[in-house]
Amino acid sequence: EDADHVEYTVTAKAGEVQMLPGKPTKTWGYDANVLGQTIVFKEGQHVTIHLKNDLPELTTFHWHGLNVPGPYVDGGCHAPVYPGETKDIEFTVKQPAATLWLHAHPCPETAVQVYKGLAAMVLVRDAQEEKLPLPRNYGVDDIPVILQDRHFNRQNQWDYEADYDPDGVQGPTAVINGTVNPYFDVTTTRVRLRILDGANRREWRLHFGDDHEFAQVASDGGILPGPVYFTHLMLTCAERAEVVVDFSNYAVGDTVTLYTDDTPLLAFRIKAKNDNGHGELPEKLVDIPRLVPNPDLPIHKVIMSGMDEEVMLDGKKFDMQRIDSTQELGATQIWEIANTNDMTGGMIHPFHVHGGQFQIISRNGHAPYPNELGWKDTVGVNPREKVRIAMRFDFAGVFMYHCHILEHEDGGMMAQIEVI
Ligand code: C2O
Ligand code: CU
Ligand code: CU
Repeated sequence: EDADHVEYTVTAKAGEVQMLPGKPTKTWGYDANVLGQTIVFKEGQHVTIHLKNDLPELTTFHWHGLNVPGPYVDGGCHAPVYPGETKDIEFTVKQPAATLWLHAHPCPETAVQVYKGLAAMVLVRDAQEEKLPLPRNYGVDDIPVILQDRHFNRQNQWDYEADYDPDGVQGPTAVINGTVNPYFDVTTTRVRLRILDGANRREWRLHFGDDHEFAQVASDGGILPGPVYFTHLMLTCAERAEVVVDFSNYAVGDTVTLYTDDTPLLAFRIKAKNDNGHGELPEKLVDIPRLVPNPDLPIHKVIMSGMDEEVMLDGKKFDMQRIDSTQELGATQIWEIANTNDMTGGMIHPFHVHGGQFQIISRNGHAPYPNELGWKDTVGVNPREKVRIAMRFDFAGVFMYHCHILEHEDGGMMAQIEVI
């Protein structure tokens, strides 16, 4: 057996979870009642995964942010796995250490399936990240924080159809890692949080109750060039941020809570202060080669427009039979993504491309935010904003690109590119 080959089965299945007092909540998950066990890959590893569907309807297994060939391995709309079926995929992990995720992506049922619980975290580890002074003892000082929100009806159920909103289904109750009112027992001076906005539409404005400062050390596709310090951090749908929190100034017995706006999300209870020996974070973490767009290529313009049922991408609704654009394999091209929504209080559209990580060049001609200087696969595009990115594909095939408000995606704010 080749040591660099791993084989897994990932089963999508139905379950139920005691989330509130009273009736358990009916949910879906990956080898779990809700969400799924974190899947850990190593760079360079050759992976075989048996995708098993034990659900009563078709699903797909999309590896959001993973650099794999499209469209079957990537697991978008083109890769249905029917009830009772098992399908195999194979790929080699070819990207730096990062926090990615797996979620269902059948079109147009992505939103309802993710809402029911079909999402899990996926980590890539590599030798470069292992040399950095970052916490990485999974479950002890390195933890996933999957942010979702739900409406529980009087029977404690998530009734997607009853709560349907074409601009995205949301609920008043924060559900973090599939748990209502969660807490985490801190035993070390520093903790690394791998935060994923796994909500259908909500953006999160994260801060601690006392506005304690924390350091963002990674964005969607990997470690940032250097830590960026925040007291408040916003994440839009599908975005990830790895942050390191220094709890050393708190006393054993203290509790400090992470909030979005005024809603408490996750309580950190200081139980011990074992020094996990990292001291101050270095100013510099990794070198990220900047993608250089080919000046001979035109700018690929993408327009996200409309609200509710009127959402469109480039003035059209998604059609799986239509290829909307092409790009040459290995070439770097500038994409300019416009959010033409000019209503006051208009929505941020989180724009996502399958098939690779990109770099943000500018927002309305201005430099991107300091925590956007690393690899990204999703970018929040504000109303009346044009975001330029440098995009390169390392695999051929057909890939989707879309708004990651899942009801906008299912509503047709999506297109596909063929990489040739
Ligand atoms: Cu996270 Cu097309 O998806
Ligand atoms: Cu994706
Ligand atoms: Cu949108």
